[in-house]
Amino acid sequence: MSGKLIVGNWKMNGSLSANQDLVRAVIAGLSGTSCKAAVCVPAIYLPQLQQLAGGSPLLWGAQDVSTHDQGAYTGELSAAMLREFGVRFAIVGHSERRQYHGETDAVVATKAQRALAAGITPIVCVGETLAEREAGQTEEVVKRQLAAVIHTNGHCISEIVVAYEPVWAIGTGKTASPEQAQQVHALLRAQLKAATAHPERIALLYGGSMNAANAASLLSQNDIDGGLIGGASLKSADFLSIVAAASH
Ligand code: PGA
Repeated sequence: MSGKLIVGNWKMNGSLSANQDLVRAVIAGLSGTSCKAAVCVPAIYLPQLQQLAGGSPLLWGAQDVSTHDQGAYTGELSAAMLREFGVRFAIVGHSERRQYHGETDAVVATKAQRALAAGITPIVCVGETLAEREAGQTEEVVKRQLAAVIHTNGHCISEIVVAYEPVWAIGTGKTASPEQAQQVHALLRAQLKAATAHPERIALLYGGSMNAANAASLLSQNDIDGGLIGGASLKSADFLSIVAAASH
């Protein structure tokens, strides 16, 4: 893929007034940068993003999407509904959703499918827990998680984004070393190459305590095409310094 992609994941943070300051500052700081940038916000703020960021280089996305098209699914939001608010990306299979909401590989694969069908790029998250890493299961776990998405989505797989997010690095301040991240990215790249004729279209993001200080070394790795940024996406200066590191 050409140019890096930096995506903020606000998680369950924000308020109308804080978002306004943050989004305006990020948009102002994006001028002249060469990488693509997006923020995945709590869904209730999507109309606000559409208003603030419409027509600007900042793209926006959701943090989840329903496995269903419509119907009796209280509390759910369909991909078509998200699309009506200009959503370009939807995170699917974030480890917090796998852990707290019991999302299985099959559910994540279906969510990716629903997003793709509505013209939304799913950002498919994969990653091992600390226990899995220590048991030497990293490769097996991330490949299994990605295989489910490949199986369900066939050739459409070239339209996804993949985020490698080691669970032990999320929100902990512990980042995977650039070499550790690159090693897993290379495995995922090989798996994608075997699954599609157009693997070069797929951005492979790293996520997990990426910040202004470590972004440049992570982003300089061969198979790291960008970042999925949690905590550091909530402050414009931090997010913009990651964008700057990705723009070199
Ligand atoms: P973090 O979160 O940057 O705060 O570690 C990343 C994520 O969960 O997407």
